[in-house]
Amino acid sequence: MKLKRSKSTLVSLLFLAASVSLLAQVGLAVKQEDFKTSEQVAFYQRHRAFADGVAKEGQLLGKSISASQTASPYSVLQDSVYLDGHTLVASVQHGADKVPLKLNVSFLEHGIVRIRGQEANPLKPRFDDTQKHVLRDGGANLKYASADSLSLTSEVINGQTVHVVAFKDANSTASFRMTERPWSVEYVLNNKPSILLNSKGLFHFEHLRERPGADGEVDGEADGAWEETFRTWKDTKPRGPESFGLDINFSGFEHVYGIPEHASPLSLKSTRGDKDAYSQPYRLYNLDVFEHDLDSPMALYGSIPFMVAHNAESTVGVFWLNAAETWIDVTRDKSSTLGNLFRLGTGSKEPSVSTHWISESGVMDIFLLPGPSTADLYRQYAELVEQTPLPRSFALGYHQCRWNYLDQADVLAVNDKLQEHGIPYDVIWLDIEHTDGKRYFTWDSGKFPDPVAMQQKLAYNGHQLVNVVDPHIKRDTEYPIWKEANDSGYFVKNREGTDNFQGWCWPGDSSWVDYLNPEAAAWISKQFHLDKYNGSTPNLFVWNDMNEPSVFNGPEITMDKDIKHHGGWEHRDLHNIFGMLYHKATADGLRTRESPAKRPFVLSRAYFAGSQRYGAVWTGDNAANWEHLRASIPMVLSNNVAGMHFVGADVGGFFGNPTPELMTRWYQLGIWYPFFRAHAHIDTKRREPWVFGEPYLTHIRDAIRERYRLLPYWYTLFREASLTGMPLVRPMWMEFPKETSMFAEDASFMVGSAILVVPATDADTSTPIDVRLPAQENWYDMRTHAAYVGPLKRQFALDLATTLVFARGGSIVPTRERQRGSSELMRRDPITLYVYVSQTGTATGKLYLDDGESYNYQSGAFIERDLSFANAKLTSRPSPHTVSSPEQVDFLAAMSKVRVERIVVVGMRNALTNAAVVENGQTRNIALTYAGSKVDSECVIRDPAVLVGNDWEILLS
Ligand code: NOJ
Repeated sequence: MKLKRSKSTLVSLLFLAASVSLLAQVGLAVKQEDFKTSEQVAFYQRHRAFADGVAKEGQLLGKSISASQTASPYSVLQDSVYLDGHTLVASVQHGADKVPLKLNVSFLEHGIVRIRGQEANPLKPRFDDTQKHVLRDGGANLKYASADSLSLTSEVINGQTVHVVAFKDANSTASFRMTERPWSVEYVLNNKPSILLNSKGLFHFEHLRERPGADGEVDGEADGAWEETFRTWKDTKPRGPESFGLDINFSGFEHVYGIPEHASPLSLKSTRGDKDAYSQPYRLYNLDVFEHDLDSPMALYGSIPFMVAHNAESTVGVFWLNAAETWIDVTRDKSSTLGNLFRLGTGSKEPSVSTHWISESGVMDIFLLPGPSTADLYRQYAELVEQTPLPRSFALGYHQCRWNYLDQADVLAVNDKLQEHGIPYDVIWLDIEHTDGKRYFTWDSGKFPDPVAMQQKLAYNGHQLVNVVDPHIKRDTEYPIWKEANDSGYFVKNREGTDNFQGWCWPGDSSWVDYLNPEAAAWISKQFHLDKYNGSTPNLFVWNDMNEPSVFNGPEITMDKDIKHHGGWEHRDLHNIFGMLYHKATADGLRTRESPAKRPFVLSRAYFAGSQRYGAVWTGDNAANWEHLRASIPMVLSNNVAGMHFVGADVGGFFGNPTPELMTRWYQLGIWYPFFRAHAHIDTKRREPWVFGEPYLTHIRDAIRERYRLLPYWYTLFREASLTGMPLVRPMWMEFPKETSMFAEDASFMVGSAILVVPATDADTSTPIDVRLPAQENWYDMRTHAAYVGPLKRQFALDLATTLVFARGGSIVPTRERQRGSSELMRRDPITLYVYVSQTGTATGKLYLDDGESYNYQSGAFIERDLSFANAKLTSRPSPHTVSSPEQVDFLAAMSKVRVERIVVVGMRNALTNAAVVENGQTRNIALTYAGSKVDSECVIRDPAVLVGNDWEILLS
């Protein structure tokens, strides 16, 4: 069953109601026919035909094709290549169509290479503002390599001219090589050609052209180039064909990851060639896919065109900066690497992954990221799109949501019940029914007579409220938001550009604000200000849903591609950033509603590269079944791989009613996702934690409390991400880059570098769970503190109370152990440190604290400690980021009573008896205790009473 989008109001609404009530009773199945397959996408098909032609011709040329032998018709024009400062310039031309393309290859710091291409003399401009909305500072301040560090040499090898740019200072084992005939590129890393472009000859650039005459085709125009129909929708394609495609090959790699959002395994499957390959390419096109499939490359709500390849030696990445619909084919070539000019004849047999990227419009703009370590790769990526900023600290707590909490009394009852059951939570959420007829920024005054009083009541114990504010604006002349936007001309326009675009969504007939128009974006931001948003308080935060955008009666449940945005651009050019532009405008509004500014919290469903700057996202509408529980792991990991760190999945599963066992397991997993929210469809039964009774209530409460205990660790991880770009939750390969057997692992994962989570994702508790503890390291069961030595494969029995979570030897994990009702109430609580000792008796960790809401941390108002344990001595030192400033002094004063109240050292073999605590030049001795310790090798320093903000050391003897 599926929401039917009909053009008639009545029919639409009837269908909506019917589908809503049927949802919980039927099995899930996506309505495939609502969404295009690649066979129904003309530009993809044109590239497919081109690629098949090239492959065929290649076969005619000889079995072992290489870059110099592919049938690619594109060549570098003679004498067109030169190095201009940090940019290598070349003209490339198709042998037959003779339209020169300008390629600019820019060399950035840290070995990042940017390749941009479009017509040398375009008939009209291509959409090139994606960079403005995605790159750091709009791309204006990218750090380029200095011209002196680059040198260009051109040589003839086997009759083929090759231009080589070498990096003099940075990395002498890397070079960038471009061959002329046909055009191809090799990014040589560590003396190995690693990222190859057009080595399969699939580069194909549909240059802009005049519309063919009325009497027929020009130049054999392919089908669908100037008009395309999908079911009842026609795409008028006023600009004609303007797509481009390129093969990007990762030589020496077997695994590629990223390019969310898809409900597919972490290690991306082939889409052609292999017997278990998907039958469709991966698609990036933000869509509201109702009851989406699992194990599928179908497009979902978000799109991040960032792919990462990893092998035991290195991690590299490709960022394809384009906001139009994009398809990516993945094939594997296990026998030999094609297109390697430099290994020709060596008989080398290396695996490789070939990918073929095809975008519908815009400028070709690709970044190659050389790694080689994961840390290097994420520093490079963050250099381009920025890091995840520090969120509001409450946002890391537990979020209690459902569609819908009925009214004010219901909200307060849920708040009371959670407190009564000793369940900490931070935020309660209101879905669309809280509004007056789906007019966002309003309240249903019958149900919510006094929203301010309600928020104040919640705030009393540190709880926040989140309201959904969707992007569709009800067409209602009495609705001030619609009226103002209409009067100011802020709406997206129809295809003729003459009137507002209209479509159907929750409120019925709606229009959408055009965030591409900076004035309109600034206007919508202001609507979130306290004086504009009636009934809002500083404790109200926002949820942007349906922002792909979801248009019930549009093609593929979204906007027509040919409708017009600010500047005359078609929706097709910017579809994948539309949701992000709204996310940004919302976050800007919340940030600027108070002075001094406070950090916003906004959850968005649609997203793109760069969305991490504006808040969190979730994986969308999942279902209450074990398959969806399992699928959430690779989905959350893939987002983290692609730099979208603050992500979670609806705990419990959105559609359907979870069994108590599923609900329990979902909480036990959900606490390990960066964004932790329970949510449910309107037609499901109530399922707040206490609904299931015992023993489930206890298990669920224990899980949520575990999340709260570890909030200092989570916040410190966010701090790390905000500085380094490193993911929060990490696939095993990221932490164990040489453990080849774990490269495809996506049933277990790491939270930061210290915690390994092996979730139970099955109803069965009688069968033990297989656990692999990698590397030659100590691992400690976080619950029992039992120690294990890796590498180890073992089965663990599991009852419903248990989650398998292991601390990695060598880590120090900060916690707060006192149970409170919300994270805000824990702000000044003392810290407990867990020191999990490595095989060499050492451990390191960090602790980061700030006020959790302001931007004062940017001027030093934080405590950041480097913690280290060696030779039985634990030391706390300020991190190198620490700066002294008046703000820092104030913050230290505010935290002057926050101490470390307990230190648990796990894994010390010697029987120690004393801790000598040195702080402020004074030494005091504390007897160590073993009372209450879980295992023999664990000792506890009770109340060392050292301050979190001070330097100190503690020597055990
Ligand atoms: C779709 C969202 O994905 C879901 O989370 C929400 O509850 C409904 N829209 C209603 O707003």
